[in-house]
Amino acid sequence: MNFYRIKQFYWAINSTLTPSSIHFVESNLNLNELKLFNKLSISEKQHCINVAYDVIGECKLKNLKPDLLIKAALLHDIGKIYKKLNIIDKSFMVIADNLSNGYFKKFSNIEKINVYYNHGKIGRDILKRYNEEERLLYLVENHSNFSIDDDIELYILRKCDSRN
Ligand SMILES: [Fe+2]
Ligand SMILES: [Fe+2]
Repeated sequence: MNFYRIKQFYWAINSTLTPSSIHFVESNLNLNELKLFNKLSISEKQHCINVAYDVIGECKLKNLKPDLLIKAALLHDIGKIYKKLNIIDKSFMVIADNLSNGYFKKFSNIEKINVYYNHGKIGRDILKRYNEEERLLYLVENHSNFSIDDDIELYILRKCDSRN
């Protein structure tokens, strides 16, 4: 059976993603990863694709192999698939976090707040079920952890995430 066809089956036809973006995602993710990616909202998908493109540029500048980072970029926000944050939730969370100096974290029993703060860890747990390699899990889990400053790949992922 044509593997590409199976992939296409799981790919929701979405007019806002360009054919070249779709091809890019399909050629960098395996079938399980693609199914997960597909559960992201359209704006999250586009965000992850933009982060991945950005990562390629950064790797070129630093002479690094981009393969794992591309995958990490495409999957870094996968922890958001079960509880989606819309643009209003997100704006609210960013403002509340800034004003409260992180105090908001205490309300992590509220699901949307939990996803906002902990989607890296949630993403790690989701990907672990698919036997993804530890390094990928690590990058996804820590993609917004600014306290780790000696990991070049994580640094690139964080940088590209925050500017897309
Ligand atoms: Fe994130
Ligand atoms: Fe992100």
